[in-house]
Amino acid sequence: MKRISNFIFPALMLCGVLISAFVIVTSLQAATASPPAPAHVQVAAASNSTELAAQGRALFVAKGCIVCHRNDDLATVRRAQGELDFGDVPDLSNVKIDAAYLKRWLQDPTAIKPSTAMPNLHLSANEIDALAAYLTRARDAASSCPVTELSAQTFVPPAPYPAQPSFGGFWYGTEKLWTALQPGGQWNALPKDRDGYSQKIVWWRLGYEGTTEQQPALKITGKQLDGVGTFVVNGATNAYSPDFGGNGWAIMSGVEIPALGCWEITGEYGGQKLSFVVQVTP
Ligand code: HEC
Repeated sequence: MKRISNFIFPALMLCGVLISAFVIVTSLQAATASPPAPAHVQVAAASNSTELAAQGRALFVAKGCIVCHRNDDLATVRRAQGELDFGDVPDLSNVKIDAAYLKRWLQDPTAIKPSTAMPNLHLSANEIDALAAYLTRARDAASSCPVTELSAQTFVPPAPYPAQPSFGGFWYGTEKLWTALQPGGQWNALPKDRDGYSQKIVWWRLGYEGTTEQQPALKITGKQLDGVGTFVVNGATNAYSPDFGGNGWAIMSGVEIPALGCWEITGEYGGQKLSFVVQVTP
């Protein structure tokens, strides 16, 4: 990590941070042809708050916030850019401040704190909304998406399946159809391709044998609860791993989720249905 300098006088600190930041922000903009900093961040057509947060995430890089502020979610990007350390700049990994105050701050930091070392970045109203949605996303997601959590009636499959998945999380469903979910219900940073965000889902049924049923007729439907998105996937494949428990066989499916947001996912197999809710986040 490079340390820029230890400023002695507040006035010097103000100038120093401003000058270094503008140099860096300018060079960042010059270098935006190479990923991950996008050359242009579209902020007009977000269909829901999670899409807006994804735009805010891109803006956090494109507008140079990442140059001054630490943020766990973008630690790899920041490291790739050389990880400058300006000293006393707030870590924005887990922003607790009120959204309305945050927006006023982003509009003009000096209007709130004249002596602040944070420059006015002349953000548009859309950019401010996107950045605020991004920085407060964890709080918003927790309050608005009814993700499936570990509950009192947790399903425990019969031995020799372990009482909990050996790879973490918790079992969910019945002997006829179950899956493994993570506490918190977040699907973070899924790989994105042309059709959406890719995720693999593993399903179990007591007595399922991958050798006799290589392509189980499992159907998966997805319904976005905070938007209009849907998807349908027909068909799955067999998968074997000692980690799956029981006889080692499970049903493996791949889905492409078309948009970020709150999703109800339903599997149907052999006359059984199983639904759960997850939040797909940037
Ligand atoms: C030149 C470095 C620099 C850049 C670029 C920068 N900040 Fe800051 N930011 C600071 C400093 C320094 C503070 C601490 C302000 C203070 O207390 O005077 C701060 C404070 C903040 C705060 C906390 C405000 C509060 O009252 O708690 C937020 C939120 C914030 N910045 C967001 C952003 C976002 C979003 C961006 C990009 C659009 C950004 N910053 C760009 C230096 C920067």
